[in-house]
Amino acid sequence: MLTQRKNCIQAFCNFRKYSKLASKPWLNGPGLSDFLKKSVPTQTVEEEVPSSVSHYLDAQEHQPENNLESEEQTKNVFVETYGCQMNVNDTEIIQSVMKNAGYNNTNNIDEANVVFLNTCAIREGAEQKIWDRLSNLRHTKKRGVKIGVLGCMAERLKEKLLERDRYVDIVAGPDSYRDLPRLLGEIEGGQQHAVNVILSADETYADIAPVRLSSNGVSAYVTIMRGCDNMCSYCIVPFTRGRERSRSVHSIEDEVRLLSEQGYKEITLLGQNVNSYVDRSEESSTGLGLSDENLPKMSDGFKTIYKLKKGGLRFTELVERVSNIDPEMRIRFTSPHPKDFPDDLLDLVKDRHNVCRSLHVPAQHGNDACLERMRRGYTKESYLELVDKIRKKIPDVSLSSDFISGFCGETELEHSDTISLLQKVKFEHAFLFAYSMREKTNAHRKLKDDVEESVKLRRLQHVTQTFREQMLERYASEVGTTQLVLIDGKSKRSKEQWVGRTDNNKKVIFDDVDHLTDVSTHVPNVKLRPGDYVTVKINDSKAQTLFGTATNRTNMKTFYN
Ligand code: 5AD
Ligand code: SF4
Repeated sequence: MLTQRKNCIQAFCNFRKYSKLASKPWLNGPGLSDFLKKSVPTQTVEEEVPSSVSHYLDAQEHQPENNLESEEQTKNVFVETYGCQMNVNDTEIIQSVMKNAGYNNTNNIDEANVVFLNTCAIREGAEQKIWDRLSNLRHTKKRGVKIGVLGCMAERLKEKLLERDRYVDIVAGPDSYRDLPRLLGEIEGGQQHAVNVILSADETYADIAPVRLSSNGVSAYVTIMRGCDNMCSYCIVPFTRGRERSRSVHSIEDEVRLLSEQGYKEITLLGQNVNSYVDRSEESSTGLGLSDENLPKMSDGFKTIYKLKKGGLRFTELVERVSNIDPEMRIRFTSPHPKDFPDDLLDLVKDRHNVCRSLHVPAQHGNDACLERMRRGYTKESYLELVDKIRKKIPDVSLSSDFISGFCGETELEHSDTISLLQKVKFEHAFLFAYSMREKTNAHRKLKDDVEESVKLRRLQHVTQTFREQMLERYASEVGTTQLVLIDGKSKRSKEQWVGRTDNNKKVIFDDVDHLTDVSTHVPNVKLRPGDYVTVKINDSKAQTLFGTATNRTNMKTFYN
């Protein structure tokens, strides 16, 4: 369903993205082995399963299990997550750190001793939600509950947050999660406030196994890199999340291997610029080292404002290695930058059955002058050439994108270029936003937020309507096809129906039946479960959902053979 709010339309997502640099994280955390046995996911069937590639959440409250083991254990932490999928995965890291420090994760705020809000700062509206929530939380303070504001808003406002809301005890930025137990200790020791907003050049939380309490046991997220060096003129992210840094390929492979052993069937690799991934550690060296031959390969016609970094193991190789771990496990990734789609990556998506044919290619705008003001490093033409190349190589690929309406100086004519780009490309999913000026950004320093709010919203509505028309066409074109669907869980509407996703990330609903044969094992009358692959004949499409009939249970190998 289309949702419109004051300054943002998250079109058709089911529910669901330099300051002082410290060279070292604050504390040494526990090793991976400390967590491995403890992090087995709950394999429950969920009513409705989140879309597997969800970027920008409105406010997703985590619903972890209440792990109270005994009456004596009274230290409970409640974490509420706002913002992008990276924040959801960060919450899993926070829960891991807290669990290791002796806190239980609870989904009942009334029994919490500590409440953390994991925040987003990308638009003003996102921050307003946090202010509103903080004022609602005042009554919990009376019970002596400690309140922490974590993540991007904490990083952006730092101590200013404490000035504006005197009920906040802890302010911790995205690179300070290991330090949370120490910060809490300071508060418990009588200190009024505790703050750590130091950004790190190398923190990746690689050794912390996330506590996947809200997972459906089928899909999991693995953060592979953090931060952003692009400095798009409208964007606060480089200031709240710091410089780009990547986890070592080995630590990622270990995590994915473990998830495969635990039965997960779909992994989404996460990063602010996921396809700018580069592991430059010595042990991962490809042999080319820092030679000029080993500059990153970029999409044709795209450039960056930063100096290209030589050497290292790059995203294509990482995806190749991760996709080798379990050929029955789907691999997705988000959120990429359009500049980092070299041919070898597209070839891998085309050739590897388990690397999903659904790509997010954030355009942001369709007008060259506006793209230049946004400092995106490409033109409408080069973007369209990239889309053309992707569609030629991978004909059944689905494409999604992000667009901003009403950026500084945007004219009606410029806006109409975004409309024509949408009409040309025909995206399957889109995240559509009205521009929100953010302090510190290049646009804040150099440009004027001169498009009236009402005009921004009118244009956003126009963009949404255009996107919707094309999207309906793309979904309708799947009717009559046969798709390999990975079951997420039971449909929200009926316990008699399953909901799953196609390889190209379209939601499919189909009736539960008990007469299917598993064509990979020849077992008849199988009972379907979340995590099963089924072949589904698509009969109908409505908005962003396909409807079909399951014809057999299968696996990826059998389906593609
Ligand atoms: N105003 C509106 N939208 C923004 N985005 C990033 N910064 C802003 C802003 N200041 C959007 C971009 C980005 C997505 C995560 O949020 O489309 O891709
Ligand atoms: Fe923001 Fe641009 Fe970095 Fe994306 S690439 S996080 S839009 S600065």
